[in-house]
Amino acid sequence: MAHDSYSQEFTSASEKETTQIAKDFADILQMGDVVALKGELGSGKTFFVKKVAEELGFDGYVSSPTFTILNIYEASPYLYHFDFYRLKNIEEIEKIGFPDLLMEDGIFFIEWPEKAEELLHEKYFEIRIDIVNGTHRKISIKKITGNEDALCRN
Ligand SMILES: Nc1ncnc2c1ncn2[C@@H]1O[C@H](COP(=O)(O)OP(=O)(O)OP(=O)(O)O)[C@@H](O)[C@H]1O
Ligand SMILES: [Mg+2]
Repeated sequence: MAHDSYSQEFTSASEKETTQIAKDFADILQMGDVVALKGELGSGKTFFVKKVAEELGFDGYVSSPTFTILNIYEASPYLYHFDFYRLKNIEEIEKIGFPDLLMEDGIFFIEWPEKAEELLHEKYFEIRIDIVNGTHRKISIKKITGNEDALCRN
C-alpha cells in the first residue's frame, strides 16, 4: 500500500488551518483506508472528519456519531464515521458488526479507537489532535504499519 512511511506534524492556529490540513489529507486517502482519531473531548476529531467528507464530495450535514455510533456519508468513496466513546469494550464493538463493516467499500474514520485497536487493519493512519488553547491544535498524522493482532491484512 502507498504512503507506508507517512508521518506529518502540524500546528493549526484556527479552524481554517485545520480545514486545509484535513483537505490535504483527504486527497491521499484510498479506498479501504482506516483512520484512528485520538484526542480529548472537543479537540476537533469530528471537525476533521467533516472537512474530509466535504473534500470527498459529501454536501450533507456531518454530525457527531457519539449517540448513533456510526454515520455513513455518501462521499466518493463512502465514509464510515464511527465514535466508540459510549461503547464499553471490544465485545460491544464486535456486536455492532464493526469487523464486517471494515470489509465494505469505503474509508473508515474512528473516534475513540483505543478500545478496538486489535480490530483495526494491519496498517492504518493514526491522527492525534492535542488542544494547545481555545484556537490552536497540534495535529500529528502517521501511518501505523505493524498492527500484528489485526484480522485484516491490507
Ligand atoms: N484550530 C482548530 N481546529 C479545529 N477545531 C477547532 C480549532 N479551534 C477551535 N476549534 C473548535 O473545537 C471544537 C472541536 O469539536 P469536535 O466536536 O470536532 O471535537 P471532538 O474531538 O470530535 O470531540 P468529542 O470527543 O466530544 O467527539 C469545535 O467547536 C471547533 O470549532
Ligand atoms: Mg467527535
